[in-house]
Amino acid sequence: AFYLDVRQSAMAVTRETIGVIGGGQMGSGIAQLAAVAGFDVWLHDSDPGALRRASEGITAALRRLVSKGQLSQPAVSDVLNRLRCTSNLEDLKHSDVIIEAIVESEDVKKKLFSELDKLAKPNAILASNTSSISITRLASATSRPSQVIGMHFMNPPPVMKLVEIVRGADTSDEVFSKIKALAERFGKIIICSQDFPGFIVNRILMPMINEAFYALYSGVATKEDIDTGMKLGTNHPMGPLELADFIGLDICLSIMKVLHQGLGDSKYNPCPLLIQYVDAGRLGRKRGIGVYVYQ
Ligand code: CAA
Ligand code: NAD
Repeated sequence: AFYLDVRQSAMAVTRETIGVIGGGQMGSGIAQLAAVAGFDVWLHDSDPGALRRASEGITAALRRLVSKGQLSQPAVSDVLNRLRCTSNLEDLKHSDVIIEAIVESEDVKKKLFSELDKLAKPNAILASNTSSISITRLASATSRPSQVIGMHFMNPPPVMKLVEIVRGADTSDEVFSKIKALAERFGKIIICSQDFPGFIVNRILMPMINEAFYALYSGVATKEDIDTGMKLGTNHPMGPLELADFIGLDICLSIMKVLHQGLGDSKYNPCPLLIQYVDAGRLGRKRGIGVYVYQ
């Protein structure tokens, strides 16, 4: 059942519902933001283990906010009551906005968008948190391209101030305005990008990360010196290799492939060392090992 009692069911009519798909590092952070902003939230992942980790991570993050005096204890209970985890995609059928944050693969995302098109309400907006994939092509997997849009959060979503909004070829002005208002309700500052590979942020960030891998691969310096150079030399909060581990090396590689394929320039060739790490399952912090080893 969607809600268990009449009082809650009345609330469901008055409160907007947001569905989030993918309970990994991005989806869990986006679900947290949406629940804190007062929405009813359904968080879906095909992996029940990911949902368990997401739920534990969100609870711990809310506790941190309480200890810093940024959220009251009763507010935590309200937020957690508004947030439901499900491994059944059908539970998202009442959502007004669905934000997809699954694996960075065009084929897998297109399959999901086609399923969402069938189950979502006719006026629901389908947003993607993709880092680089064409919104126009994701929209083409649906019968509602005017209601498909890129809503690109930065990692970690509760902390980073930016949301990059990407309009597909057919995204309507109304849908753009609604997603802009939603991002602002989450407390974010927005930028707008045309629908080209990597959009704004990853078009610029990923070649730098890839170049850091080339520097390591060709023996220019140690990983520590490359990271320290960029941290202390250019005031970045993390060095590029540390940041790659934080993002996920699989995601970095997928983005480089999209840039290389979509822009056709050899300067976007993914570094063989990055490819080798991904082949070895060294995906970064989420696996406990990437460029660095984590306890
Ligand atoms: N979730 C929620 N809150 C978190 C968090 C998380 N995962 N990680 C850290 N925080 C909070 C902490 O609670 C702390 O809050 P207060 O200041 O209110 O106490 C604050 O963030 C700072 O955290 P820490 O003191 O523990 O650590 P830090 O100062 O080293 O900051 C960081 C951590 C914010 C991640 C910082 O290292 C940073 O900004 N790194 C760069 C992140 C970045 O570049 N992100 C974008 C990646 S590109 C992208 O996302 C796009 C893409 O498609 C790949
Ligand atoms: P992640 O690997 O941490 O999580 C992805 C989750 O999606 C996993 O829990 C997986 O079980 C789930 N999943 C995969 N296929 C699914 C499907 N068909 N249906 C339901 N669940 C499915 O990845 P992430 O870092 O959270 O990235 C998610 C998306 O956000 C990607 O498109 C990525 O490019 C984008 N993104 C990532 C970052 C980052 O720094 N990691 C930043 C911005 C955007």
